[in-house]
Amino acid sequence: MASSTTPRALDQLVRDGLSSLVFAFGYQTGIVDAFINVRQPCTAEELSQKAGKKLRYIQEWLGCLVAAGIVTINEEGKYSLPFETNQLKLWGHISTVIPILSQIFPQLQNAVSHEGPEGFWYSEPFLSWINTSHSQEDLDQWSKQFLAPVLKLKPGCKFTILDFGCGYGRHTRAMAKQYPDSKIYAFDMDQVSISYANKVLSKDGPKNIEYLCKRGGQLPDDWSEKFDFIIINDVLHDSFEVDAILEEIKRVIKPDGFAVAFDPAVSSYHRNLINDKEAQLHLPFSLFTCLPTSSINSSKEGLGIGWGYERRKQKIEDHGFRVVQVGDKDIDTIQEGIVFQKL
Ligand SMILES: C[S@@+](CC[C@H](N)C(=O)[O-])C[C@H]1O[C@@H](n2cnc3c(N)ncnc32)[C@H](O)[C@@H]1O
Repeated sequence: MASSTTPRALDQLVRDGLSSLVFAFGYQTGIVDAFINVRQPCTAEELSQKAGKKLRYIQEWLGCLVAAGIVTINEEGKYSLPFETNQLKLWGHISTVIPILSQIFPQLQNAVSHEGPEGFWYSEPFLSWINTSHSQEDLDQWSKQFLAPVLKLKPGCKFTILDFGCGYGRHTRAMAKQYPDSKIYAFDMDQVSISYANKVLSKDGPKNIEYLCKRGGQLPDDWSEKFDFIIINDVLHDSFEVDAILEEIKRVIKPDGFAVAFDPAVSSYHRNLINDKEAQLHLPFSLFTCLPTSSINSSKEGLGIGWGYERRKQKIEDHGFRVVQVGDKDIDTIQEGIVFQKL
């Protein structure tokens, strides 16, 4: 097992953080896009013109990223951004969460102190950032890679599906398109998210979706044994009422139905996190958003992403479910999804 006795160079860690912020600024303001579209290598003047931004600021931005080893410069003093476009777009978008999380500093500062509140709800800029985090291609890929193997567990294609905590409804729409003969109910307790989802639905469909504003621990009485599949995507680790949610899932799922909880593939145990890239990426989100959200209910321990795979699986089993293996992934291996069925 790896040891955590040799720490990384702290000074470089902070420099890299500053470089990420500069990169995020360039992505958010369209400088990175202009770089992608300009003929490379280019001069600072050419980039400034393409981006429609002031030359002096572009020069300083380039200087930051040349120093960081992200932008390269040749002997003629011309610049290149030597990465694949899809990588630039992926990491560019992710980097733009840095200023959003930074806005949360004061609330987190309050919550972390003994006198402060237990937690706080998501910031709308963060929820909106999540909504723009996946391209249509990513969502189609998600449907094929993660959803399809679960939905193959039951014969047929005419299902009643529940998207539990659907947020802005992006996965619901991907599901509805892939399973046009199924009826999909999707709900979230965040009214802003549901209003957005309904607005998109009224414009572009698909028509086999119904979005509702509801709380996970208090679902309608007439939903008992209604659903063939329940998809719980990035919700359990954020929730302040996991026990109530699992009880409701037990009530509303059909006896032969399947539920699947997708959460980041992070272990519950810190000894397993050493140099773990999934944890490096996801746990900071948790500190600023998932943990505070799941801590709102002061009578419960906050969960967050650090709750981890092993303890999440245990909690699901404690509620009277059997965890089901899908494909060749052993259920005791840390992964994104836990598929389960009533005992
Ligand atoms: C990280 S977002 C994921 C949204 C969506 N499933 C997706 O993948 O885009 C988590 C969502 O869970 C919702 N949520 C958390 N706890 C909930 C609860 N107890 N009842 C209903 N929704 C809840 C939040 O409002 C939020 O929209």
